[in-house]
Amino acid sequence: MANSNHTNGSAAPHDQFSNYTLATLGIHADDSMHHDTDVAPSLHVSTTFRYPRDPEDLVPASRSPQARQTPAAAGLPPSDTGYIYSRYQAPTSSRLELMLSSFIRAPCLTYSSGLAAFHALLVYLNPKVVAIGAGYHGCHGVLGLYQKLTGCKIVDLFDEASWQDGGEGWSLGKGDVVHLESPVNPTGLAFDIELFAARAHRRGAVLTMDATFAPPPLLDPFKWGADYVMHSGTKYFGGHSDMLCGIVAIGRNEGWEKNYWGMLGERCNLGSTLGNMEAWLGVRSLRTMALRVERQSRNAEQVVAFLDACVRGEETGEAAQAVKKVIRRVQHASLQKEDMGWLKKQMPYGFGPVFSFDTHVEEQAKRLPSKLHLFHHATSLGGVESLIEWRHMSDNTVETTLCRVSIGAETWEDLRDDLVQGCKALVAEGW
Ligand SMILES: Cc1ncc(COP(=O)(O)O)c(C=O)c1O
Repeated sequence: MANSNHTNGSAAPHDQFSNYTLATLGIHADDSMHHDTDVAPSLHVSTTFRYPRDPEDLVPASRSPQARQTPAAAGLPPSDTGYIYSRYQAPTSSRLELMLSSFIRAPCLTYSSGLAAFHALLVYLNPKVVAIGAGYHGCHGVLGLYQKLTGCKIVDLFDEASWQDGGEGWSLGKGDVVHLESPVNPTGLAFDIELFAARAHRRGAVLTMDATFAPPPLLDPFKWGADYVMHSGTKYFGGHSDMLCGIVAIGRNEGWEKNYWGMLGERCNLGSTLGNMEAWLGVRSLRTMALRVERQSRNAEQVVAFLDACVRGEETGEAAQAVKKVIRRVQHASLQKEDMGWLKKQMPYGFGPVFSFDTHVEEQAKRLPSKLHLFHHATSLGGVESLIEWRHMSDNTVETTLCRVSIGAETWEDLRDDLVQGCKALVAEGW
């Protein structure tokens, strides 16, 4: 492995590992940080770190902030000695960032949650105008806070005519943000990244992407023009529903180093650094990420195809009839037949493991989750366990007939059968 390559710090880790698949990276991307004989990484919980004993080695952070830190993610050699205080940098989160940077193939910073990551991105980019579409309601909440402080304009991502106002003389342009969430929460439908990148870049704006619903290896937004990519690492990167985490990946456009150091410096003051325990859980999780995500994606496509065939009457029999009596519409990127040209190009390894369906009436959407044995009725997504949510519970902007499903790593036929028995149980009760 490439241990020795890390000693000169000349190439970023995402270059050094570019020939390895995600499965291999998950197990080896942090080999350069094996500083002890443990096979499983140690958990470092310290918030503070001893300065060098030799007074000659004392360099105040104000004089050399970069030298005092250990930005493995930026391609500098990871060191044991640069840590000061864990709000700035800490060994286990550095390790996680090193791994993430090779997974996403761009320098990554971690945050205490996905929303903290989005907040940090807005603070750093400081746009006057932000174009955003429907999507995770929490991101709209963060943008609302940012607007409260800055008075920025918020315009509709899907209506380019709204990106300027002739009367007041403002328009979305240089330094502004076009923010695309794809696949989008809660439906799982995908959008053409190249199209939105072109619209943003034509105006000198940046395209920021929330790719939470399509983690690696399913989607590489940088390949299609994104400038920054954020994830709720809580979801597929964590993968076990036991840690909160946010990720910002910084596109390696000209001058990316300034953006990396800028965001790292601002994070020290925002204080939304990832906790040590969560970072350790994150490293544990990345070991199996390729296995999990590939299987969850395949599972979802099969469950979606089955439910959709039932709804369309292509699947017949008792099971299909029960499904059709409960579900009226299924939404997922795999069903976007008219978009398959660009979609297959942008997501060649499969679609996101989240989809949604609408029932005929609200009561069915509200009651179906309680009939299922293998799906937890809970919000969130991305874990190895399948979840279903009557989405109105946590997001009142969606229709009351919508259920969001996060497919886990179980066997897909078991999930299918559970959904069928749930629909049958509802029908038997007269719903
Ligand atoms: C698309 C999307 N972005 C961001 C977030 C926020 O992430 P977190 O809960 O880690 O703050 C979520 C959470 O569900 C999400 O679904």
